Amino acid sequence: MSMFSAVDVITQKRDGAELSDEEISWILDAYERGEVAEEQMSALLMAIFFNGLTLQELGTWTDRMIESGERLDLQGLSRPTVDKHSTGGVGDKISLILAPLVAACGAAVPQLSGRGLGHTGGTLDKLESIPGWRPFLTNDEIRSQLETVGAVICAAGSGLTPVDRKLYALRDVTGTVESIPLISSSIMSKKIAEGTEALVLDVKVGRGAFIKSVERAKELAVTMVGLGRAHGVKTVAQLTAMDAPLGRAVGNALEVTEAVEVLRGGGPSDVRELTIALAKLMTELVGIDVNPSDRLDDGSAYEVYERMIHAQGGDPDATMPLAALREDVVAAHDGVVESIDALAVGVTAWRLGAGRARKEDPVSATAGVRCLVREGDKVSKGQPLLELHADDEAHLATGRVTIAHAVVLGSAPRAAATLLLDLIDE
Ligand code: URA
Repeated sequence: MSMFSAVDVITQKRDGAELSDEEISWILDAYERGEVAEEQMSALLMAIFFNGLTLQELGTWTDRMIESGERLDLQGLSRPTVDKHSTGGVGDKISLILAPLVAACGAAVPQLSGRGLGHTGGTLDKLESIPGWRPFLTNDEIRSQLETVGAVICAAGSGLTPVDRKLYALRDVTGTVESIPLISSSIMSKKIAEGTEALVLDVKVGRGAFIKSVERAKELAVTMVGLGRAHGVKTVAQLTAMDAPLGRAVGNALEVTEAVEVLRGGGPSDVRELTIALAKLMTELVGIDVNPSDRLDDGSAYEVYERMIHAQGGDPDATMPLAALREDVVAAHDGVVESIDALAVGVTAWRLGAGRARKEDPVSATAGVRCLVREGDKVSKGQPLLELHADDEAHLATGRVTIAHAVVLGSAPRAAATLLLDLIDE
């Protein structure tokens, strides 16, 4: 017989009391073993959603998540390790450029990634649109690729924080995703278990992100930075705007193509700006004094990208697949592009087939949206604004519905939006 009861733990949290370390350890372990029912954990998660976790509780909760699985040992590599995590945005293909770029600067970048759920795409889904590329590596392969290439983007194995996997699936169906302690412990337990020495968090805020206000995004960032540092990981967070899509391309193969443009020195200016800003933070954290923009412009980041893709069976020179169907969304009248709604574009790309509703669903490599205009552009009636890409008519028809009001046309130009909002380094 256990000395704890799930009902006691739930009612204590419901009534605002602080749980002891022993109670937290017990309930997470018992849940993992299947001895605490899903409905009991659902109730506890909802109580945490409303009442939060104290710093002490959050530390213990995160520790138990880390200890539920294996930890990667990245000690002894010849380069310092540094990773980046984004809380999820629309058109966010930064990892594909950033990992090889920071490796080209002299660090090792272990990016253990996930797949997309909902309207934000997953890095693995994007890379899988490259013919031959495989996401699964053993721990030995990860280490060896970090040593020889300097960058790895691969699937986080099932051995890493298994209790987070169970909790995340439960949160997804119980309305308990948007809780700062639950998000922070979920993200940081995975990054700490991954074994990186340093970490830059890209915390997205705005209508295309799951956090809409700067205040809440700051609170999330401060909490995650605190958790990282308490576990010996040098951590900083950059708050970035996610009101309009990042770059012009949203969708798996479309984003890979755009990432390659940036790696070759071109591409949209916002994608380049954010990549360089994050690369500077990453290199600074591990004491590397190299200017990342030089490594983009001299071709060395692209060279590392080619080696990184080759190392995982992919052909970086393969022609990327294109959708069978394409359709333009045109301007209803003359005007200036006032805004492009990242959420509407993200949801549309998802409906067109680029994303999944359940984690078992397949995704289309080619579906998505290309933004032919950017905020501030002058347009005339009938001019194409967006291009919808889909594999079949049924997907195209659902995408048409959600894209209808994504681009707002006004009459006067307005100031360019700021991308880099705040740096949390305290
Ligand atoms: N990403 C995660 O891994 N966990 C969360 O809780 C939210 C986003």
